[in-house]
Amino acid sequence: MKILGIETSCDETAAAIIKDGQKIISNVVASSLALHQKSGGIIPEIAAREQLRCIIPVIEEALGQKLNKKKPSIEAIAVTVGPGLIGSLLVGVETAKGLAYLWQKPIIPINHLQGHLYANWLARKEPSFPALGLVVSGGHSDLVLMKSHQQIKWLGGTRDDAAGECFDKCARLLNLGYPGGPAISQEAKKFKEKRASINLPRPMIKSNDFDFSFSGLKTAVLNKVKKLKEKNKFNAKVVSEMSFEIQEAITDVLVKKTIKATEKYEAKSLLLAGGVSANQRLREKMREKTNSKIDLFIPPPNLCTDNAAPIASNAYFNFLPQPFAKIQANSSLTIEEMIK
Ligand code: KG4
Ligand code: ZN
Repeated sequence: MKILGIETSCDETAAAIIKDGQKIISNVVASSLALHQKSGGIIPEIAAREQLRCIIPVIEEALGQKLNKKKPSIEAIAVTVGPGLIGSLLVGVETAKGLAYLWQKPIIPINHLQGHLYANWLARKEPSFPALGLVVSGGHSDLVLMKSHQQIKWLGGTRDDAAGECFDKCARLLNLGYPGGPAISQEAKKFKEKRASINLPRPMIKSNDFDFSFSGLKTAVLNKVKKLKEKNKFNAKVVSEMSFEIQEAITDVLVKKTIKATEKYEAKSLLLAGGVSANQRLREKMREKTNSKIDLFIPPPNLCTDNAAPIASNAYFNFLPQPFAKIQANSSLTIEEMIK
């Protein structure tokens, strides 16, 4: 079965065709990133306008045909309905409805955060349940237990900033531009020592729950930068060292809490998902800390960041088409909410 996936929850406009939930036939992503780089963050109005401009050409490229030529050989359409930026979500949702009506195909609404997890079903091997998922993106840091495709339990999440948001805000303090995760990761590589002389906090690393908190880390970076600037010591070398320590602090906490959750819930698989899971250091540490009893799944970086392939895969494994009236963009959907 071939499913067309559509994803427009943030600044990407993405479409993909997936066969039987696992085989990528095509995966097209257009990003408005360059237009946001000057401002150091996404401007929702600009993102949605770009998505309106790109959505039809992106879907045509994924299908390999013009929309008005013939009915494409797909069985269903999957679309992200939330969470995300409301203007952006509406572009994908309303386009999907229009195409479903035109081609008389079923439409399956998908939760963006659950969708991220399905990048792990695009691997050669299928994850087994119970699976522990870490979803770390620009807007979310969640730990979930998947007992089956339909049973997702939220174990904990960030109480303030998401891990990606922390990378982005710290990068802005260090004048490294947007998006901050890849920028900090690049800078950190220039620091060649094992340990930094600057020490940053590992917030909530010892707390007896599965929650995170990253806003204190950002404030600690802000204070350090201020002091260094006052002493005229804010230079390129310090920026690399701070980047190294920021990356170590964020990944230390993510790894510690995730491994603790896999042990408590006796997970058979560990699934990394979301833009931050593209981080090489996080991947490396997670590989070091998992034992042989657990299968660690880490999608390739292009499937970690926003794209439509996992959205279509999710729809295959949870084939729950809905009537048009029930398919509504919902910017504040939580990771546990199944859409049916
Ligand atoms: O999942 P995603 O593409 O979009 C959202 O749903 O938010 O995640 C974007 C986030 C940004 O905060 C970005 O800085 C972060 O993922 N990110 C990374 C890396 N690549 C993207 N963070 C750390 N290291 C990376 N290599
Ligand atoms: Zn995302």
